[in-house]
Amino acid sequence: MDTMTLVASNAKTLDQELNWFSAMLMARIEDRTKETITDIETDIQPPDLDPNDSIYGNFIHHYQMTIAERLLIVLVLTPHVRPELLDILFMLNTTNQRGFTEFGGVQGKLHSGFLPTGETAMFLLAGANLHARFEYLALFERDHFFAKHNIITLEPAPSGEPKLSGQLTISNEIVDYLTKGELNKPDFSQDFPAKLIETEMEWDDLVLPTTTREQLSELIMWMKHQQKLMEEWGLAKRLKPGYKTLFYGPPGTGKTLTATLLGKKLQRDVYRIALSSVVSKYIGETEKNLDKIFAAAEKMDCILFFDEADALFGKRTNVSDAHDRYANQEVSYLLQRIEDFPGVVILASNFSHNIDDAFMRRFQAVVYFPMPNKEERKRLWQGALSMLSHLEMKWDVTVLADRYELAGGSIMNVVRYAALVTMENEAKDLKFEDLVTGVRRELTKEGKTL
Ligand SMILES: Nc1ncnc2c1ncn2[C@@H]1O[C@H](COP(=O)(O)OP(=O)(O)OP(=O)(O)O)[C@@H](O)[C@H]1O
Ligand SMILES: [Mg+2]
Repeated sequence: MDTMTLVASNAKTLDQELNWFSAMLMARIEDRTKETITDIETDIQPPDLDPNDSIYGNFIHHYQMTIAERLLIVLVLTPHVRPELLDILFMLNTTNQRGFTEFGGVQGKLHSGFLPTGETAMFLLAGANLHARFEYLALFERDHFFAKHNIITLEPAPSGEPKLSGQLTISNEIVDYLTKGELNKPDFSQDFPAKLIETEMEWDDLVLPTTTREQLSELIMWMKHQQKLMEEWGLAKRLKPGYKTLFYGPPGTGKTLTATLLGKKLQRDVYRIALSSVVSKYIGETEKNLDKIFAAAEKMDCILFFDEADALFGKRTNVSDAHDRYANQEVSYLLQRIEDFPGVVILASNFSHNIDDAFMRRFQAVVYFPMPNKEERKRLWQGALSMLSHLEMKWDVTVLADRYELAGGSIMNVVRYAALVTMENEAKDLKFEDLVTGVRRELTKEGKTL
C-alpha cells in the first residue's frame, strides 16, 4: 500500500471505529438515567476489521485485542483525532452544578477539550458494574501489553488521590503509526542485532559428562561433513537443511561456553542473540529483525546462538491472555524461520519441563547440561585455580569439590572473589576462608544458605 492509500484507509477504519465508540459512550451515559447497564461485550457490535485494510485493523488484530482493550485504545486516541466526541463528558450535574465524578477526566493546559483519566475508562467499560470494574483493572497492570509495550500509560495520580484519577495517555509513536502509518523505529536501527562471542578457553577446558559430550559429537560431525553429505551424497533432496540444537540445563553449566568453543573448534563465528532484544512491539518488526539476522547469518556461515530461549517456551504453552496469543505468533514465526535456516542454530534455555514434544521434535539434537558431580567439580576448581598458580594454597581442593554443589559459573565467581580479596590484602597465599566466603555469596544469590 502506498502512503496515500494507507492514510486514507486508516482514516476510513478509524471513522467507523469512532462511530462505534461514540454509540457506546452515549449508551453508557443513558445508562445513568435509565438505570440500565450496557454490556460492552454484547450490546453494541464493533465494526468488522480486516487486518489487511489498515494499520489500525492490523494493530487490533496483531494483539488479538478484546472489546475492552479496543475501546480503551479508541478512548485515548479520541483527543488526538476527534476531540469533540468527548465534550459531552463536560456535562454538568444539575443538582450540584459540577461535573459528574464518574466521568473522570482532566482539562489540558492548551488543549481545551476533555482528556480521559482511568476513571473515564472505567465509566466507559464498566459503568456502575463493580465486578466488571475490578476485572478491568488488569488493563492498567504493569504486565499488560499496554504497559509492557508502552502503548497506553495511566499516569500517576497525586499523592492521596485514587489511582484511576491519573490521566490516560497514548504514546505519540502509536498515534503517528495508527494515523499517518509512520513508524519511527527507536531501537532497531542496527542491521544485525547480534553479538560475536569469543573465548580464550579451549575445548579441553570443558568439563562435561560423557553423555553430554556424546550428544555434542554428533553436532560436530555434522558441521564437519554437512556439505559433502548434503551435496555430494545428495541427501539435500530428502533432508531439511541445517542443524538445530537445544542446549538446556541450570545456569552456569557451560551452555554459552560450549557454543563459543564449538565455533572456535570448527572455525565459525558464533553470534549470540538475546531473544528479548529482537521482540518488538511493532507489527512485523520482530519478523523484520529476525529476517535481518537470518539473512546476514546465511551469508556468513556462522553459528546462531539464541540465548534466553525460556521466554519462548513459557509463552508457547500458556495461552491464557491476549498478549500470550500475540507472543505465540512471534514464536511460531521464529520456529519456522529456524526450521528453514540452512546453518547451525543453537537455542539455550534453563528449563526443560515446559518444552512440549512438538517443539522438541524440531531439533536434531537436544543436549542436557547437568549440574557437575563431585569429580567434575574438582576439575572445574582445578581449572579455575590454575590461573592463580603463583599463589600458595595450603588446603585440598577435593574438600571444596566435595562440600559445595556449585556449577562451573559459580565456581568461577568464587575464584574471582577470593583472588580479589587476596590482591587487596597483598597476601601471598589464597586463603580457604576467602573461598568459603565466596561460596556463601554464590549460594545466597541462588537463594540457598551454607
Ligand atoms: N562445563 C564447564 N566446563 C568448564 N567451565 C565451565 C563449565 N560451565 C561453566 N564454566 C565456567 O563458567 C562460566 C559461565 O558458564 P556459561 O556462561 O557457559 O554458563 P551457561 O550455562 O551459559 O549459563 P546461563 O544459563 O546462566 O546462561 C564459563 O565461562 C566457564 O568459565
Ligand atoms: Mg549462557
